[in-house]
Amino acid sequence: MEIITTQTQRRTKTEMVLANIFKLPPIPKVLLEASKILDSKAPKSKLLVDVISKDQSLVTKVLSIANSPLFGLQRKVTSMDFAILVLGFSELKKIISALSVIETFKNKTDKYLDQKEFWLHSFLTGSISEKIAEDVGFQVKGEAFLAGFLHDMGVAVIHRFFHSSFVTISELQENSGLSLLEAETEVLGMDHAEIGSFLAENWNFPTSLCDVIRYHHAPNESLSNFLLASIIHLADFTTKHFNVGQFAVDKNLELDMEVMKNMRIHSEDELNTFISGYDTFLLEQSEAVRYLS
Ligand SMILES: [Fe+2]
Ligand SMILES: [Fe+2]
Repeated sequence: MEIITTQTQRRTKTEMVLANIFKLPPIPKVLLEASKILDSKAPKSKLLVDVISKDQSLVTKVLSIANSPLFGLQRKVTSMDFAILVLGFSELKKIISALSVIETFKNKTDKYLDQKEFWLHSFLTGSISEKIAEDVGFQVKGEAFLAGFLHDMGVAVIHRFFHSSFVTISELQENSGLSLLEAETEVLGMDHAEIGSFLAENWNFPTSLCDVIRYHHAPNESLSNFLLASIIHLADFTTKHFNVGQFAVDKNLELDMEVMKNMRIHSEDELNTFISGYDTFLLEQSEAVRYLS
């Protein structure tokens, strides 16, 4: 058997496996159709209800989110028409894109990665990114949600498609003190940020989205979307600060203070005040996500 020795060789092998991930189970047709309607300039409720109603499990999920305490309604939401009214198109778009991605990458929980906690981390990073984007006046809020939601996509990919490597990476972190990124590079020749952006590029995601996924741990290296990469970086750190979602895999996550200066955060005090402002928002969002899976 061929012995793979150098990091370049490991990287080449990883890229070969990734190239085959095109054969993934496609995103369910209903979710695709629903996203298309929601992406259109003037989404039509009637069309959306028709499409979503084709998939009973999607109907159930959307209704349970509309009935969640987050929306605090007196009346029970039993129809899709009412659910769309309660949630609104932009909230629904978030839910539908989150569900499509979870559907594509979901795997069994094991002692190395708790799926529910991982997607909670992804969803919350997306939601906080969107909120920070709004608060700092960044124009494309929807893009901020998606970028935040997908930032750690590479972790889910390694867990599902390189499972024995995932185990080795976890053990390496545990036993040799390497950071997550270092352990990933050691084993696969590339880290989860590179893996995520490699796939995003192959799937023809917008360049700025690929760039943000690639540099979410080092936003100052971002080539095309420095501000969004910084927002995602800060959102990622904020979820860690409040200790919600899966962090066993990324426990050494550190905040890049150089980048924070560009978001007008100059000291640890300012940072703490900024982050504390998201406390209630994060709690509300954590409630909502429990209804997603
Ligand atoms: Fe990450
Ligand atoms: Fe993360």
